[in-house]
Amino acid sequence: MESKRLADKVALITGAGRGIGRAIAVKFAREGADLFLCATRMETLEETAKQTAEFGGKTELYTVDVADRAAVEKMVGEALGLFGRIDILVNNAGVYKPARFVDYTYEEFDRVMKVNVYGPFNVTQFVLRHMLERKTGKVVNIASTAGKWASMHQSAYNTSKHALVGMTRCVALETAAQGINVNAICPGVVDTDMVPQFTKEHAKIMGVDEETVKGFILQRIPMGRLIRPGEIADLAAYLASSESDGMTGQSILVDGGVLFV
Ligand SMILES: NC(=O)c1ccc[n+]([C@@H]2O[C@H](COP(=O)([O-])OP(=O)(O)OC[C@H]3O[C@@H](n4cnc5c(N)ncnc54)[C@H](OP(=O)(O)O)[C@@H]3O)[C@@H](O)[C@H]2O)c1
Repeated sequence: MESKRLADKVALITGAGRGIGRAIAVKFAREGADLFLCATRMETLEETAKQTAEFGGKTELYTVDVADRAAVEKMVGEALGLFGRIDILVNNAGVYKPARFVDYTYEEFDRVMKVNVYGPFNVTQFVLRHMLERKTGKVVNIASTAGKWASMHQSAYNTSKHALVGMTRCVALETAAQGINVNAICPGVVDTDMVPQFTKEHAKIMGVDEETVKGFILQRIPMGRLIRPGEIADLAAYLASSESDGMTGQSILVDGGVLFV
């Protein structure tokens, strides 16, 4: 019989409408959690909810822009009103905008920071205040390999993900003695909607075709394939469960071995 590692847990997952966030929602539902899922669009969330429904837990859906602090405060209040508590927070919502550093408009750079850094800042702050009262909680931040090293033509994204890795460490340090675990996952290239966007926009910047960019990506991954969203979800479930109680402040690579190149 399959174990239900997240039975009786309530998880708030941002960016749960597609890709990695959806895979985490489905995995957590399978593990017995009740879910409060948010994204910018209700239609993508409804698609996720169709997939979580078969596991029998509760799933609530909410549209929000995580960069909008007032809206996030309201959302966390509503989640607490509905469920009475939040045991697990997954900061997964994120955006990607490549450009040469000198070509970024202020607005482009700012939007990446607002969603990828201020988003987790907003959600974590409001959720943590509640977790600190209960002296228990798990925070899982979806950062990136871009939070560990440099990449061409995506300095806004890399800056934002380095910041998220730093935030993970600092928040972990401040909450470690109070029963709260804060860890990050650093995925490599994961097979989601972000990849065609990545390929198309990088091809344009580099003046090559999309096949060349795809070949370049695969060449750099020793496993020779993209990471599956479910592989990120499996680690997220571990970090959200009591199995990881001894870990905090970590940022873990799931990248198909890129580090060894
Ligand atoms: N894919 C990769 O290769 C990769 C690699 C490393 C790290 N990551 C990180 O993993 C996370 C998920 O990526 P993904 O590839 O699954 O992305 P995705 O397929 O583009 O999905 C992004 C999700 O985030 C939601 N979202 C975007 N902006 C938001 C905002 N301002 N407020 C609330 N929700 C927002 C989207 O909402 P809608 O559904 O409403 O559009 C969507 O559900 C991101 O943080 C990304 O940086 C991805």
